Amino acid sequence: MTTSSAVLTPRPAQIDNDVLLHGIKARRSTRTFDGAPLQAEHLEVIRGYLDDPECMRGPLGGEFRIELLTGVDEHKEIGTYGYTKGFQTVLVAIARPEPLVLFEMAHVLHGLVLYLAHLGVGTVWMGAAFNPADILQATRVMSDEIIAAIIPLGYAGDKKRLIDYAAPLVLKAAKRKPMDEVFYFGDFGTPLGDHGGPFHAALDLARRAPSAKNKQSWRAVVSRDHTRIHLYAAFGLRHQVGTGRKKYACPPEYLDVGTFHRSLEVALMADGLEGTLVVEEPDVRIPDGADIEYLATWVRR
Ligand SMILES: Cc1cc2nc3c(=O)[nH]c(=O)nc-3n(C[C@H](O)[C@H](O)[C@H](O)COP(=O)(O)O)c2cc1C
Repeated sequence: MTTSSAVLTPRPAQIDNDVLLHGIKARRSTRTFDGAPLQAEHLEVIRGYLDDPECMRGPLGGEFRIELLTGVDEHKEIGTYGYTKGFQTVLVAIARPEPLVLFEMAHVLHGLVLYLAHLGVGTVWMGAAFNPADILQATRVMSDEIIAAIIPLGYAGDKKRLIDYAAPLVLKAAKRKPMDEVFYFGDFGTPLGDHGGPFHAALDLARRAPSAKNKQSWRAVVSRDHTRIHLYAAFGLRHQVGTGRKKYACPPEYLDVGTFHRSLEVALMADGLEGTLVVEEPDVRIPDGADIEYLATWVRR
């Protein structure tokens, strides 16, 4: 197995938004790969993305690392408890376990996932179903950092395994919660209904983002004047965070909101809506007893 970052690679800074939009529509998790290494042109795309400061800059400027492992022997080197098979390439997401840093890292990494989906490269975000000790041997992880997730990459294999049918069925992976369960208008007491205005279509599309256990832990409150979208994480997997087998190294909900925000940004841009991400103190009351945390606000430019 080798860890790498290339020197001479194409610079994909200006990835066409339509490419990412297609990625949102084409992507779904791949768990059985065909065993082949990634084609050179796809590796170049990945290295180009990872080497490009524009691609790697999070919307709030936080610091994190994404490493590329190639030539991985999944049997000897990276255990995924049988959840995935047949991959030789892995992206590893490493960061300090701080909410906004995790969110931003997922935003950045999901941009690459969408790009790869457009190119026909299969991916699966994994927050829990891998053995971090295996990855630690291949990457340098500082004492204040965690491996928040890995993403095995490759081409979908022809021969499906039971897990390829069972996991999507159990997780209802093709389904998403109704919009009114996750999106609100002005406050958490008012479901979005038909108040989405210019944001409606983009919010609808962004729900296709992947999330741990397909919990779709993103929540969004659209401001009544349609200038802002406040983003929140709703927690449901805290009991599965820890250091044991199949535990998440951090609450995966922060990553979920990152994949969602990246998708939302792409979908909004496709509708001609550009914005800036800020952290402010929205005048939105979180319902008593709800395990919900504010992360950031998209402000229309
Ligand atoms: C942060 C995060 C962590 C995930 N962890 C795992 C995992 O440990 N094992 C797994 O099989 N899938 C994992 N997934 C994939 C989800 O199960 C999958 O995205 C979800 O069921 C929706 O299916 P789709 O990706 O095909 O749309 C994870 C996804 C995210 C975003």
